[in-house]
Amino acid sequence: MGRHERFLFRRLEDVESKARELGLDLPVSRDIGLLLQPAEAAGRALANRLAIHPMEGADAEADGGPGELTFRRYERFGTGGCGLIWFEAAAVVPEGRSNPRQILCLRRNTDGLRRLVDRTRAAAERVGPSHLPLLILQLTHSGRFAKPAGPRSPSIVRHIPALDALVGLEGGEPVLDDEALDRLQDDFVKAAGVAAAAGFDGVDIKACHGYLVSELLGAFGREGRYGGPFENRTRFLRETVGRIRDRLPGLIVAVRLNAADALPFPFGFGAEPGDPAGMNFDEAKALVRILVGSGLGLLNVTMGIPFQRPQIGRPFNRPVRGGEIPEEHPLEGVARLIGAAAEIQAAIPGLPVVGTGYSWLRQFAPFVAAGVLERGKAGLIGFGRMAFAYPDFALDLSRRGRFDPRRVCLACSGCSELARAGRPAGCAVRDRDVYRPTL
Ligand SMILES: Cc1cc2nc3c(=O)[nH]c(=O)nc-3n(C[C@H](O)[C@H](O)[C@H](O)COP(=O)(O)O)c2cc1C
Repeated sequence: MGRHERFLFRRLEDVESKARELGLDLPVSRDIGLLLQPAEAAGRALANRLAIHPMEGADAEADGGPGELTFRRYERFGTGGCGLIWFEAAAVVPEGRSNPRQILCLRRNTDGLRRLVDRTRAAAERVGPSHLPLLILQLTHSGRFAKPAGPRSPSIVRHIPALDALVGLEGGEPVLDDEALDRLQDDFVKAAGVAAAAGFDGVDIKACHGYLVSELLGAFGREGRYGGPFENRTRFLRETVGRIRDRLPGLIVAVRLNAADALPFPFGFGAEPGDPAGMNFDEAKALVRILVGSGLGLLNVTMGIPFQRPQIGRPFNRPVRGGEIPEEHPLEGVARLIGAAAEIQAAIPGLPVVGTGYSWLRQFAPFVAAGVLERGKAGLIGFGRMAFAYPDFALDLSRRGRFDPRRVCLACSGCSELARAGRPAGCAVRDRDVYRPTL
């Protein structure tokens, strides 16, 4: 019998006792006011310590400009009261799109992106005239998971047998060469310029979840300037961050980083040699220290490769249809994500780290999040699926002192199912008039 269980907790004490039973270090505090305290990130004041994570909606126009559902989503997030809104993955080149409706951060879409920023800020004014959430746009190339026109069209930087099979690769296909990666760096820098012109406060170079820049961090088996030793595997990210910083000094540069890919060594970043299930965050810490030296202002820590083992990065109650029920208890996944962010935050105390993995905790999430803040295990607390279900969770917390149990995310994987079916993603339960569940 595996340890996986559905969410059965009625009281916070039940969560705490399950954590004890599983031998987990799960911080808890009853002082949830900590979440509402003002904070600072990259020299900017934040209204509170709550953030919305990047969540792809797959609802842009075919040209990559924001669509009606994109505007709706960010207006809802804007009125929701979080101090930081981390906008979803936007591709820097058409062939790097994860789906035909992913936002494209190209010059031709500057006006549309500016409208998205303006409408989000206007929505945020409804929270209060001085409420000015920080707006960061995530920039990406979807790499092996690219599906720019619908069918898979992977671009890889190395072969990884366990992941090749997932995307229909046989092992002999060519990988992107160094010159293509040099050009892609230019595309990231150009896209950062577009984001700045559209009015975003900052950009994130997405280095997580097995997408292209993330895959490069674990490119042990690759020859040339972008593979092999740590210095080469991290070159793309380091140079891109440095170049954006030099070119656009007023723009915050952030990174969403996989602390570990949860792949065995030598196939992934953050693997422990000799222990196929082990993780080691030493390289993540070393990399973040270097990035801070190049001007990194904000870090968001996550883990795993969602197409392979979604439970690592988004602990769930129910898997996507046809997906496996994992061996581990979802609370183990939550604690692992908290622990990864904590280890990096402890190593780089001056950098605000945004923590991940709280939505599964439902109405008890604020207590664990407050425990994390109280013990300095992260600087900010991010919510992904919760924001789809309950976009004004921050406002509710400040006005009522709690999350409404009837509005929280149920971690049912309905949003992931919509995304996998190539449909616009949102909450198929709490927002079902707009996002009808897949059948
Ligand atoms: C439908 C869907 C879309 C997502 N899109 C992104 C994305 O664009 N960029 C990203 O870094 N993570 C993305 N994620 C992951 C979330 O940001 C977040 O890390 C994950 O859901 C775990 O946090 P949670 O437990 O609060 O949901 C996505 C997750 C889902 C379910």
